[in-house]
Amino acid sequence: MIHPKQLFPGQTLRGILIAAVASLVLAPSLSKAEPKVEVLHWWTSGGESKAVKALMDEFSSNGGTWTDMPVAGGGGDAAMTALKARVLSGNPPTAVQLKGPSIQEWAEEGALGDLDDVGKAENWDALLPPQIANHMKLKGRYVAAPVNVHRVDWIWANPEVLARAGVSMPATWDEFNAAADKIKAMGITPLAHGGQSWQDATVFETVVLGIGGNDFYKRALIDLDMSALDSPTMVKVFDQMRRMRGYVDDNFSGRDWNLATAMVMNGEAAFQIMGDWAKGEFLAAGKKPGTDFLCSPTPGKGYLYNVDSFAMFDVKGDDNVAGQKLLAKLIVGENFQKVFNLYKGSIPARLGVDMSEFEYCAHRSAYDMEVTAKIGGLLPSYAHGMALRGAQAGAITDVVTKHFNSNMSSADAAKALAKAVKQSL
Ligand code: BGC
Repeated sequence: MIHPKQLFPGQTLRGILIAAVASLVLAPSLSKAEPKVEVLHWWTSGGESKAVKALMDEFSSNGGTWTDMPVAGGGGDAAMTALKARVLSGNPPTAVQLKGPSIQEWAEEGALGDLDDVGKAENWDALLPPQIANHMKLKGRYVAAPVNVHRVDWIWANPEVLARAGVSMPATWDEFNAAADKIKAMGITPLAHGGQSWQDATVFETVVLGIGGNDFYKRALIDLDMSALDSPTMVKVFDQMRRMRGYVDDNFSGRDWNLATAMVMNGEAAFQIMGDWAKGEFLAAGKKPGTDFLCSPTPGKGYLYNVDSFAMFDVKGDDNVAGQKLLAKLIVGENFQKVFNLYKGSIPARLGVDMSEFEYCAHRSAYDMEVTAKIGGLLPSYAHGMALRGAQAGAITDVVTKHFNSNMSSADAAKALAKAVKQSL
């Protein structure tokens, strides 16, 4: 109890009480952290920018301040190089688009902040399919939050070009080749492709899945089984890759993936084999699925998934930590999962999101995900960093790109593949 004698001159007990109450009311808000994040990502194309804006808006309308750090370059190779430079200089961004085993690689280095409290509070274990949740964890604790599920094994097509050639969406690789031969004879590029190694790898893994089957894909690109990497089946895969090389135009080298998508949009090319971020491009350009563009899974019985997620780097400061936790929470939120994925071309990672506004390719993706999971066909994409650690994935991609851009025989490529993987282990 304050004795009136203790009061400073001019102060009254009432005045002190008012100040004390005011400070009690104000204290929490004054000391409350102001959530902020610096976000490193590689979403710079038309569809991708719209999607990332949905995340920025969600974050801002929940009181956060977002500093954007986009690093252009499909597949994220350039973004990962930028990340390493920032980490080496002791100044990592607070939130980073990271995927697959690289999440565990960074977490094992002690570079990531823990998100398990957010995961528990938000009930992520119940909201995420276990296979996706596992990609987000190290030793059972959440260290990343998933935004979506992209499917990689898709063919996108221009319906008008197909109609003129009298062909339909191919259901087998032989049908693909027959359709491509017809289209080529009409003077149109059958396959829109960008000669960047990650795009070569994207096509390659769909061919491995289609020609080898689900079990072969698993043995070759997940288990790194030498008897699958250097095998007659792998020789057939490279034969098909050689054929594909003949279906791309002369200017393919170095072309960005979204420019290849544009070739399909404007009828310069018939097909593109690319994950469903390509659908984000069609949609951002106002194109209608089923009318202006077609989608169908590449021939095969599996589903190659690619989950985009964000990990939070271990940084100091209440504002930064508050920003990381807020971002993680919002990412798995129901509203965000819907809005973001409508732009991005992917489907929600979270279960139970209302899909009524999604179009038929997204419904096909959701349906196939469920069906393929039952037959062991729900498989992580190696080309998009979901299946292997960096060194092994890099070793495979080097051989795939080398073969695609040279006269290397299929048998030599299969041998080189096994050798490169062995050396990388
Ligand atoms: C990412 C997608 C992105 C695509 C093209 C993929 O690896 O998962 O989110 O749109 O690369 O950059």
